[in-house]
Amino acid sequence: MMGFYMQRRPLMAGNWKMHTTRGEARTLASAVAAACAKESDRDVLLAPPFTALSAVSQAIAGSAIILSGQNVCWQEQGAFTGEISPGMLKDAGARAAIVGHSERRQIFGESDALINQRVAGALRSDLLVILCVGETLDEREAGKAFNVLENQVRIGLTGVTAENMTRLVLAYEPVWAIGTGRTATKEQAQETHAFIRGLLSQLYEKNVADQLRILYGGSVKPTNVDELMAQPDIDGVLVGGAALDAASFGRIINFEQE
Ligand code: 13P
Repeated sequence: MMGFYMQRRPLMAGNWKMHTTRGEARTLASAVAAACAKESDRDVLLAPPFTALSAVSQAIAGSAIILSGQNVCWQEQGAFTGEISPGMLKDAGARAAIVGHSERRQIFGESDALINQRVAGALRSDLLVILCVGETLDEREAGKAFNVLENQVRIGLTGVTAENMTRLVLAYEPVWAIGTGRTATKEQAQETHAFIRGLLSQLYEKNVADQLRILYGGSVKPTNVDELMAQPDIDGVLVGGAALDAASFGRIINFEQE
């Protein structure tokens, strides 16, 4: 399979979280497909809930939209109640998975080690992976943000080869900016993305770090997407709330280059 990056093409991703019935998902996905039909210089990804994957897959057929799960198990089958395997995702039409979202970490107690298993399993099965990292407000205010992020990146990527990094995207989502309307400033986001890219160039060769896409997530809106996307180390966005509205997400996809 071809790598996930192509000279850091912008990747505009919508994470619908626990929203949409199948009918709502079909309507929203069709509207998003219409909004991005003519865009070829950027990638668009949608992550509906598992139950709506098949419906969305049909709704976006013929478009270049990448369909993604919001999580994935590291095993193909077995006694893993509540989990979804890579093969099941692919069967439903997805070719990507979000892993390590802060809601999985904070609410469901997923550890860095568990998230690393998910990353490894998804890559083994040829899925594209969006690995999310992000610090809490307490951690940032205590001056520990970079330590926390370094741990999340190091452990999350343990055992991931440089070759497999071509099918991986990192998403920096500060926990304090998710669903709060409080976006990181463009300077804060750029500084943190540059830190993460620097760390990647220590863990891998510089070209791996240079080619890796790093998305920003946390209260991305039509009103702030342009300035965020203008930052040199921000290669896309991972959008929650504003991705549930086709007009908002359409404006985000069609961000304007400053
Ligand atoms: P919001 O855009 O609603 O802040 O959510 C961000 C997010 O968690 C995307 O994965």
